[in-house]
Amino acid sequence: MFCPSPIPETEPPRDCPLCPRLAAHRDAVRAEHPDWWNAPVPAWGDPAAWLVVVGLAPGKHGANRTGRPFTGDGAGPLLFRALATHGLAHGDYEGRADDGLRLDGVMILNAVKCLPPQNKPLPEEIRTCRTFLEDQVVALPNARIFVALGQVAHQSAVKVLGGRLPKCRFAHLAEHRVPDGRILIDSYHCSRYNQNTGRLTDDMFDAVFERALELRG
Ligand code: URA
Repeated sequence: MFCPSPIPETEPPRDCPLCPRLAAHRDAVRAEHPDWWNAPVPAWGDPAAWLVVVGLAPGKHGANRTGRPFTGDGAGPLLFRALATHGLAHGDYEGRADDGLRLDGVMILNAVKCLPPQNKPLPEEIRTCRTFLEDQVVALPNARIFVALGQVAHQSAVKVLGGRLPKCRFAHLAEHRVPDGRILIDSYHCSRYNQNTGRLTDDMFDAVFERALELRG
C-alpha cells in the first residue's frame, strides 16, 4: 500500500514524537482509519534527482492515507500531469501508491511530513520538521533546482538552502539564487482550492516546470 523511501536513512520513525500536537492527531486518525498510512510521509522519487519539488504537508485523505506524497490528494492530478507533460514522470497516475507511476529526475519532499489539523502546521512544527528536509536535501547530491509549492514550502526551502528570507520574497515564478549555485523557483501551491479559484491555472503551473528545464540547460 505504501511506497518505500528512496532515502530511508533520512526519514523519521513511524511514531515520530517530535511534534506532540501532530502525534496526537496521527493517533486519532489512526484509531478512526487503522488501514491508512497515518505516519510521516516519506520522500518519493528519483534519488539521482536534479529537481526537487517541496510541498506543504500530507492531506488527510491523500498522502496521509496512501503514504506517498500528493497521492490521492486534490493537488495530485495537476502535479503529476505537469510532471508527465515535461517528461519528469512516466506511467499512469491513479491516486494509489502502487499505481506504477515513476518519477525521472525529480524528488518530492514535504516541508512537514505529518498530517496537520486543518492542513495548517504551526510555525514550531514547520521548524521541527525542517531538520528532516535538511537531511533529505543533503542526501540528494545532484539536486540543483528546487520548486517550492506555496509560502510555507518557500520559507522552509529558503532556510534549508542557506538563502535569506528578506531577500527572497515569495511570488509565483520568482527565482531565487541561493548558495552553491542552486536555484529556487516559487509556485502557488497546486491545491484544489487554488485550482478552483483560478489562482493557479494549468498554464501557470506548466510555466514553472518549463523554467526549471530551461535552467537545467
Ligand atoms: N499532499 C502532499 O503530500 N503535500 C502537499 O503539499 C499537499 C498534498
